[in-house]
Amino acid sequence: MQQSPENQIVTDKVWHELAFGLENLGIPTETIRRRVGEMASYFGIADWFRKRTDELSGGQKQLLNLAAVMVMQPKVLILDEPTAQLDPIAAADFLATLGKLNRELGLTVLLVEHRLEEAFPMADRVLLLERGRVLLYDAPERICDGLRSLNPDHPMLAALPSAVRIFHALGASGGKCPLTVREGKDFLEQHYGNRRGELPETDYRHSDTVAAELKNVWFRYERDLPDVLRGTSMQVYAGELYAVLGSNGSGKTTMLKVLAGVGKAYRGAVRIEGKAIRDYKGNSLWRGVLALLPQNPQTVFVRDKVRADFEELLEAHGVPKAERAGRMEAIAEKLGIGALLERNPFDLSGGEGQKCALAKVLLSQPRILLLDEPTKGIDAGAKQTLGKLLRDLRADGLTVIMVTHDVEFAAEVADRCALFFDGEILSADTPSRFFGGNTFYTTAANRMVRGLCPNAVTCGQAVRFCRGETE
Ligand SMILES: Nc1ncnc2c1ncn2[C@@H]1O[C@H](COP(=O)(O)OP(=O)(O)OP(=O)(O)O)[C@@H](O)[C@H]1O
Ligand SMILES: [Mg+2]
Repeated sequence: MQQSPENQIVTDKVWHELAFGLENLGIPTETIRRRVGEMASYFGIADWFRKRTDELSGGQKQLLNLAAVMVMQPKVLILDEPTAQLDPIAAADFLATLGKLNRELGLTVLLVEHRLEEAFPMADRVLLLERGRVLLYDAPERICDGLRSLNPDHPMLAALPSAVRIFHALGASGGKCPLTVREGKDFLEQHYGNRRGELPETDYRHSDTVAAELKNVWFRYERDLPDVLRGTSMQVYAGELYAVLGSNGSGKTTMLKVLAGVGKAYRGAVRIEGKAIRDYKGNSLWRGVLALLPQNPQTVFVRDKVRADFEELLEAHGVPKAERAGRMEAIAEKLGIGALLERNPFDLSGGEGQKCALAKVLLSQPRILLLDEPTKGIDAGAKQTLGKLLRDLRADGLTVIMVTHDVEFAAEVADRCALFFDGEILSADTPSRFFGGNTFYTTAANRMVRGLCPNAVTCGQAVRFCRGETE
């Protein structure tokens, strides 16, 4: 299974996608029908068996890809970041299905992942690669110690599951390293169970200026299709980092498109910096006001070299030729993509493409930045760099609206988080109040520590609570 779910789907109907591989092998129709029917039931696809493939949400596409591969009855399954675009609940379901295939059919699974919270503990063995070299190959519970003995500050330590990170940050050694939320919770209750309390709420104050606003917005793709936005309202203040979470297919990307004026609401108001979106004439919205990093980063590139692509954007923005190289070097340095400028943007790895697309979007120096799944496909080190970059940009006054499935990242960097559900934005609040009140849309750290300290939502906060640093 390849990294991008769209690239793997080759037919227009779900049932046909499942049958396609077997048809190519010339297998008799009756056998195909039986095998397809069996797989569709096993994967719970029966409800959307007759749907068009281009109408599926990201999560459904991934499940379909897995089912279409399993129909071929492989002995070994190789998956490239299959959960990168799945919402937290769909990702957990997907991995549970994978675990079931492994246990029930003895299927060998080789999984490549950045998102390790749940996948890591399921593994029998973990292989860590660094620049094409095997760094470690061991049981998951021994990886952290192995990595620390190689380099106590290794950037990959930040990619390990929260239970592992909290265990080590608390200086606990000896004893078995917890891997799952449940083991982490047991560990915390055993050692810190006599402690109860809350971390002091940081007093969050936003500016009075509204940077982007949706007011009772209604949107559908076509007249005879259902509404995706159903009275959506949202206010994002200038200089704020606002994260939107929500399930696959709920309408988050659609909401960003409407905010950027790419989709037109048929009712309600969309205002950017106080001005109605329709009053931005020509390209005026894209000239230093607003920029959008789409979910598929490849769509921002038009040229066959990253540098040429950047150059063209700067030219279009009227940046004098003499200044262009400096602007490009500065952004390349910030995002660590200097070595990629001479490359073809369509030949980059998922994470490299993500970083170059962000660089291009930042070159237009917007005051409002819309990001759709900016952390998918990037490693832990790059994610920390992105988090720091977003905080720096915010300090310079940039407003960021970010759609993400990455609850850990949202908890670390956002000022406010909100849930998109049933066509509306719900419960926008600070990360500690937002995640502290959720059961599924919350971080692994919070699920471990919530019995002791309900409003600790990041690993750092859980550790501070356990150390008694509550002031
Ligand atoms: N171009 C389109 N034409 C028709 N329907 C569409 C189109 N794009 C999206 N949809 C539908 O609109 C709904 C919302 O899709 P959207 O892409 O906004 O979801 P999302 O919340 O971003 O999901 P994900 O987390 O999977 O990215 C889905 O039901 C989807 O099938
Ligand atoms: Mg989306």
